[in-house]
Amino acid sequence: MHKVIFDTDPGVDDAMALLFLERHPDIELLGITTAFGNASIETTTRNALYLKQQWGLTAPVSRGSSEQFDPGRKPHPFPAHIHGDDGLGNIGVPDVIDLPLDPRPAHQFIIDTVMANPGEVALVAVGRMTNLANALKAAPEIAGLVREVIIMGGAVDVPGNVTPAAEANIHGDPEAADHVMTAPWKVVVVGLDVTLKTTMSRMELAGLAKQGGAAVELLDRLSQFYIDFYDGEVKDSMVVHDTCACVYLVARELFTTRSGPVRVLTTGIGEGKTLQKPDGHRFGPSEWDGKPSQLVCTDVRADALMALVKKTLVRQ
Ligand code: BDR
Ligand code: CA
Repeated sequence: MHKVIFDTDPGVDDAMALLFLERHPDIELLGITTAFGNASIETTTRNALYLKQQWGLTAPVSRGSSEQFDPGRKPHPFPAHIHGDDGLGNIGVPDVIDLPLDPRPAHQFIIDTVMANPGEVALVAVGRMTNLANALKAAPEIAGLVREVIIMGGAVDVPGNVTPAAEANIHGDPEAADHVMTAPWKVVVVGLDVTLKTTMSRMELAGLAKQGGAAVELLDRLSQFYIDFYDGEVKDSMVVHDTCACVYLVARELFTTRSGPVRVLTTGIGEGKTLQKPDGHRFGPSEWDGKPSQLVCTDVRADALMALVKKTLVRQ
């Protein structure tokens, strides 16, 4: 069993990823920690509670930070044109969900859960990396106790999606991302290099909704606004960024990876850019020296990945 804490900013593609984690037989979801990003922390936390309620999830939800890792950094506007004003495709999520939150802030939930399960927990982070960076700052020793950190974020050998350089999850909190990438734990970067290859069409999702019960029907409904947004890029389809990262947990053989330390640019026109120094290349002294080698996904067998996603989403 893969024990997982899911750090997320739901978010339409986050919602699909959450259902994938819940329905995969080899994954045990220990907790859901929320990040701001696709919407404010109030909205993404409310959405996590909504999905927990609708899908009958047992994992606790813990609310994340409302501020970037560097509190002096100016926040970016939320992408309501991609995920809707409510973060879930404008389906009319109730303002208040009558479910309790875990009393601990997300970073403390992460620390406590990792310490209670030494060497066993994977952190799958598909939003800003703020909570992970805060957990490391408060308890650096967790780096040696986490099994691995899988992130959806970054654009290493391809253009970004917020600027020519930067992908949204990194751009939204670059200091946090750099802290996470350079910590002494094992990070796997599942960025736009591979996630843009993993798409699901409107028709495929409608087909799954017929087989997967009320949970997939809700997923289908909340995804329509997001599919409309992505329609310009991938015809009548959605990019399944966050689910792609979750698949790495259970089917890493589908990915091609490259190892080497990763740094994040935190200033200048390349702000939010993820840069890897590939192992085995010779360079002069640089800011990558002495940092741990991490894995960057450079390619993926997209058809096999999507087949696994579809099969898993309709399991009941
Ligand atoms: C990432 O940004 C968000 O819009 C998505 O949920 C995904 O995590 C893609 O750049
Ligand atoms: Ca996300």
